[in-house]
Amino acid sequence: MVCGVKTLGQFIIEKQADFPYAKGELSRLLRDIGIAAKIVNREVNKAGLVDILGDVGTTNIQGEEQKKLDVYANEQFIAALTSGGECCIVATEEEDEIIHIESPVSQNAKYIVCIDPLDGSSNIDVNVAVGTIFSIYRRKSVEGLASLQDVLQKGTEQVAAGYVIYGSSTMLVYTTGKGVNGFTLDPSIGEFCLSHPQMKIPETGYIYSVNEGNYVHFPDGVKKYIKYCQVEDVSTKRPYTSRYIGSMVGDIHRNLIKGGIYIYPTTSRSPNGKLRLLYECNPMAFIIEQAGGKASTGFDRILDINPAELHQRVPVFIGSKNMVEKAEEMMLIYTEKPLSVEEKVESKLEDLGVVGGID
Ligand code: AHG
Ligand code: MN
Ligand code: MN
Repeated sequence: MVCGVKTLGQFIIEKQADFPYAKGELSRLLRDIGIAAKIVNREVNKAGLVDILGDVGTTNIQGEEQKKLDVYANEQFIAALTSGGECCIVATEEEDEIIHIESPVSQNAKYIVCIDPLDGSSNIDVNVAVGTIFSIYRRKSVEGLASLQDVLQKGTEQVAAGYVIYGSSTMLVYTTGKGVNGFTLDPSIGEFCLSHPQMKIPETGYIYSVNEGNYVHFPDGVKKYIKYCQVEDVSTKRPYTSRYIGSMVGDIHRNLIKGGIYIYPTTSRSPNGKLRLLYECNPMAFIIEQAGGKASTGFDRILDINPAELHQRVPVFIGSKNMVEKAEEMMLIYTEKPLSVEEKVESKLEDLGVVGGID
């Protein structure tokens, strides 16, 4: 029998030819992430059974402690990246500090991984899609122990990024900067199989995704854009449809396929937005741009932000190009652009009388 299926492993090896000088480390790193994703998928699928098998804080039949799924996912990805040996630092949403992988092989490895091991974890208890988001950088320093500075790179420096969605089926979607490809897990053979080659996000979509419960706290530009989405106009197929799962991965995955915009703006409660630049916004921005869409803070391109700190948060407007541009247009008219981190430092120094600030 001829088998027409292309597995993630086969695809990664084939694509290695796109990078003639690569020695296969990135391919192995992606393979390791794929394996950890399958292990996490197995546990996510059993989530509803936790009450039967034993809750957090109890021990299972092997005497192991039952872990909350986001802790479990965090441990699985760190373990996979540690044993793989291709990565010198893991930065994860679940840990305050970066993790140095200190084995002699890993110390000198050239890649850095930033990861949100379980995104949308509040949806776990109610059987709604959750995800994993990852981002891969090449370390900048050439020798010695890599440091936080190696992690704080602009999104444009990413060499690969992807997400896994644990949904009605499980998919892994990733880019290495040459388009976006999606793989669906076939549980019968335990392999991710190429199901969505060269994914493209429609230029215009008709879905907007934002937590409207926070409406009163939104900047005026976002309020105006939401009203724009809701106004009747047959020529532009408005009103648009509102869809919000509360899992960034789920919301963006749907909008990638169907066309749409996902917004998590600044609010008066979270003045820098809620989502993290390194673990959530940069990888998703890389994927969506590679699929032909746009990702912005409302004013500037996400991928151009110079990260100042590990757990930095940013507002995000991401999705179909025309929708993001329309939202940016509203932001420009109705909302004053907030100062960047550099500008804030500069103005503080000026207040203190340090004329000219820093260069
Ligand atoms: P995480 O579960 O990794 O903390 O991320 C949750 C994020 C994102 O996935 C989601 O879109 C957003 O938080 C939901 O926030 P609200 O509940 O404030 O809408
Ligand atoms: Mn998240
Ligand atoms: Mn998370």
